[in-house]
Amino acid sequence: MLIACWSPKGGSGTTVVACGLAAALARTAPPPGALLADLSGDAAAVLGVAEPPAPGLAEWLAAGPDVSAGALARLELEAGAGLRLLAWRPAGPDAARPGSGRAESLLDALSAERRPVVADCGSGAFGAGLALAAGAEVSLLVLRPCYLALRRALAAPVRPSGVVLVTEQGRSLGRRDVEDVLGVPVRAEVALDEVVARAVDAGLLGRRLPRSLERALRPIVLPRAGRDAA
Ligand SMILES: Nc1ncnc2c1ncn2[C@@H]1O[C@H](COP(=O)(O)OP(=O)(O)O)[C@@H](O)[C@H]1O
Ligand SMILES: [Mg+2]
Repeated sequence: MLIACWSPKGGSGTTVVACGLAAALARTAPPPGALLADLSGDAAAVLGVAEPPAPGLAEWLAAGPDVSAGALARLELEAGAGLRLLAWRPAGPDAARPGSGRAESLLDALSAERRPVVADCGSGAFGAGLALAAGAEVSLLVLRPCYLALRRALAAPVRPSGVVLVTEQGRSLGRRDVEDVLGVPVRAEVALDEVVARAVDAGLLGRRLPRSLERALRPIVLPRAGRDAA
């Protein structure tokens, strides 16, 4: 199953949600665990993964047809218990943004994975990130309940299958407003939490996944458990 996380606006919490989801799935999935594909460039830092001077997803996407989908497996890095990371690793200024050249092959390869796969498609969904957001089995829009973000979400070229709402005090827009405007369900609500912020800044989100984040993402990680309890 491929879960694509994306956002119409930077700073929404997309990378935090994607990394949190991947770490939570890695804990619940049978071996060999879960995979996080990073098209944002931030996941390695958030998970505290040292990046060797080796090619990453950026180079794979920029490569010609000679580089096979199988080569993706050789790019994976260890990112903690049961979690592997396909780091972005830009090759240079030209590769700093996900190109769409081989996006469809990436979508096919990640969709065919037997492990649960989370993709951090970044903000503004473009290039390969857009292709994954459009084609993934689960397409999660990560959104702060803010009018400007909502406007952009409405104008996005992709319709998500669900929303992860990153909530903060003092906002007048809530879950209902977002569901009414976008016409898709809010699958999880993640509160801004200083424990999460500190884990991100320390690069420890994967290894010490904060309880609040794990709990908030549970309806996506264990959708059946949520329904059974309802
Ligand atoms: N649930 C949260 N609690 C506290 N801080 C958060 C949370 N989600 C995101 N942040 C903070 O907000 C900032 C932007 O988050 P990030 O995931 O990088 O957004 P995006 O990937 O959408 O640009 C980061 O500094 C991160 O630490
Ligand atoms: Mg990000």
